[in-house]
Amino acid sequence: MSFMSVDNLHKRYGGTSVFTDINLSVAQGEFVTLLGPSGCGKSTLLRCIAGLTAVDSGSILLAGQNITAQSPQQRGIGMVFQSYALFPNMTVEQNAAFGLRMQKVNSTERRQRVAEVLKLVELDSFAGRYPHQLSGGQSQRVALARSLVTRPRLLLLDEPLSALDARIRRHLREQIRAIQQELGLTTLFVTHDQEEALTLSDRIVLMNKGQIVQSGDAQSLYTAPVDAFAAGFIGNYNLLDAASASRLLGRPASGQLAIRPEAIGLVPDAEGQAQILGHSLLGNVIRYRVEAQGVTLRVDVLNRAASDLYADGTRVRLLIDPAALREVA
Ligand SMILES: Nc1ncnc2c1ncn2[C@@H]1O[C@H](COP(=O)(O)OP(=O)(O)OP(=O)(O)O)[C@@H](O)[C@H]1O
Ligand SMILES: [Mg+2]
Repeated sequence: MSFMSVDNLHKRYGGTSVFTDINLSVAQGEFVTLLGPSGCGKSTLLRCIAGLTAVDSGSILLAGQNITAQSPQQRGIGMVFQSYALFPNMTVEQNAAFGLRMQKVNSTERRQRVAEVLKLVELDSFAGRYPHQLSGGQSQRVALARSLVTRPRLLLLDEPLSALDARIRRHLREQIRAIQQELGLTTLFVTHDQEEALTLSDRIVLMNKGQIVQSGDAQSLYTAPVDAFAAGFIGNYNLLDAASASRLLGRPASGQLAIRPEAIGLVPDAEGQAQILGHSLLGNVIRYRVEAQGVTLRVDVLNRAASDLYADGTRVRLLIDPAALREVA
């Protein structure tokens, strides 16, 4: 039973379609991530659901009610944007209380709910500060608090972490997930970062050029991409055309094959048919660029010790598990 659903949604700007015929449903309490490259229509879809952008046709249902024609205020939906857009002349507390003032909630209840929500985002000791006295991560938490305080039926988050550095980003996304689970909030989260999508979501909806390409949990998107786009976008798959795959595997291959960089083993061997062209250190992983039979492959190896790092030019033998090969459309 879906709590929110988008049925046959169409949206165009002037002569160009952003999306045609989008269908999406989200269950109550579910955390769904919209993942896709820049310009694929993620923000537009979120804005249509929030009521900030009008749709051309199709319908949006929330808790069994058709909300397509409702104003943003009537929908009971909270939205957090990529840029925090706090009111600069209001304190943290006043920013967080804004939505409740609009709803004419009395001052006693307002104070209590704002105190609760600031505690939830760990900003209770910052209540009296102004936005210019906050870090980016703190500002983003105020923006989150400002949405949560109104107890939205649906929370929409549009790349709320993209302006933050990697460490704060990780911390804040764990915090968002914990709060979402604690409150049982139905959430639609937008990102173009695959790691963020894979770690946060109950379900990932992969979009490309205004269409939904694949929908499923992290494991199924990662291990079973439905097409070459999905394979290229998630997991850094190596994509091989039929001719390259045949040369590399020494047996005929009919279609395009995808193989993940961590599914290829690599053993130094002076007689080996492959050669390391270059490498980059990703921290816990070493990503090699390897040439074999005229094919260039990405190979990921765990960086356990300094001895795991082979010099560029080293001759190697590749170990490819046939079970790790996937045919893609
Ligand atoms: N107000 C507008 N007028 C005309 N075209 C627009 C408008 N807003 C968005 N678009 C176009 O619609 C398409 C989808 O934009 P959208 O902002 O939804 O992408 P996105 O997936 O959120 O991308 P990003 O990851 O860069 O934020 C883009 O091609 C964009 O140029
Ligand atoms: Mg966007």
